[in-house]
Amino acid sequence: MKNFDYNNPTRLVFGRGTVENIGKYIAGYGDKKVLLLYGKGSIFANGTYDKVTKSLRENGIDFIELGGVKPNPVLTKVREAVELMKKEKVDGIVPVGGGSVFDTAKACAAGYFYDGDVWDLYEGKAKVTRALPIYGVLTISATGSEMNHNSVIMNEEEKKKWGLGSRAFYPRLSIVDPSVQATLPRNQTVNGACDTLAHVFEAYFGGTPSTRMQDELSEGIMRTTIDSVRILLDDPSDYDARAELAWAATLALNGLNGLGRAGDWASHGIEHSLSAFTDIAHGEGLAIVFPAWMKHVYREDPEKFARFGEKVLGIDKSSAEDMALKAIEALKEFFRSIGAPVTLRERGFTEDMLEPMAENAVMKGSLGTLKKLGKEDVLEILKIAF
Ligand code: NZQ
Ligand code: ZN
Repeated sequence: MKNFDYNNPTRLVFGRGTVENIGKYIAGYGDKKVLLLYGKGSIFANGTYDKVTKSLRENGIDFIELGGVKPNPVLTKVREAVELMKKEKVDGIVPVGGGSVFDTAKACAAGYFYDGDVWDLYEGKAKVTRALPIYGVLTISATGSEMNHNSVIMNEEEKKKWGLGSRAFYPRLSIVDPSVQATLPRNQTVNGACDTLAHVFEAYFGGTPSTRMQDELSEGIMRTTIDSVRILLDDPSDYDARAELAWAATLALNGLNGLGRAGDWASHGIEHSLSAFTDIAHGEGLAIVFPAWMKHVYREDPEKFARFGEKVLGIDKSSAEDMALKAIEALKEFFRSIGAPVTLRERGFTEDMLEPMAENAVMKGSLGTLKKLGKEDVLEILKIAF
């Protein structure tokens, strides 16, 4: 196990009926005016907008609002929001939505205090020194953005979907009320589960030896995710399964699961290029990439893939190589069974896109820790995934 220093400052408020308290919490921190940020409209359809604005008003919180954040959130929206906030002056941001809205809020929180173009921060040309507090209301569990320090934004002009991590990005407070997720379309519930599993995979298969405690934690998150999504596909209104999946998703990427291990993150790097080229949903891209990545790299650590097969997918004991291969097939079959795509072809990718996507994925250098991947490796993975 590697050394670690863990300090997650986000206050997480979890459970049914907690959205109604957002205004009370903000008032408790002494902030008076916020930007209410949201996506394309699901929060109007499911009543979350009404609950949030009522609570803000009842607690004397003044707000301006901006909607229209799209999945795979874009830089132009961040710029628009920053301009609005600088003009109107706010004390904080209230993202109401999923990872896309949270990640946009984080970019805006830093952009508010930065004089240049916010993309400079993502390019590493300038450092985040300060950010506005974020008081989030999560409506889809997937990314862990509600309790982590990452923001992933798409520079659509330059086809760069890049992440930025900063301590200043941890939300001050996030509300996770699983009951508001009952209105999620089936495919979005599936995307959330795929992303959750992918976050666990990145840490679990990173190649760090002697991490038993962390492996047991990861396996618990993976089993819970698999069981919960199956229940939800039969009954989307099952609160207990929503709650299990929501907590699993937060735990998968709030830093805890990754402790003591290197973390591979090659598959995420590859997926971000898929999204940059076609706007495919992040969770769908991961369901396609992960089994192909596993096929390409499992020989680096067949025992770990065999352990995954046994503990998470119930693969019978045989040789490590045999179990590893069966585990990869079983994972693919699981993705297929919940309606996730498992090939690039079925999502409209064409063969001529593979090379430029491989190039795009390694734009900032090689990927991965279990196996260092250059362009040729990524291309091979994309061919397996095709
Ligand atoms: O836009 P609206 O109308 O709100 O609809 C959204 C959107 O279409 C819908 N939705 C959300 N809550 C709903 C709902 N529909 C009905 N009922 C509800 N309760 O769901 C759709 C997807 O939303 P989005 O925010 O895009 O999903 P997700 O949370 O999966 O976020 C994905 C983004 O996060 C990035 C991804 O790359 C992608 O851009 N990631 C962020 C990470 C982080 N910050 O740590 C890590 C991840 O690995 C990932 O890269
Ligand atoms: Zn992810």
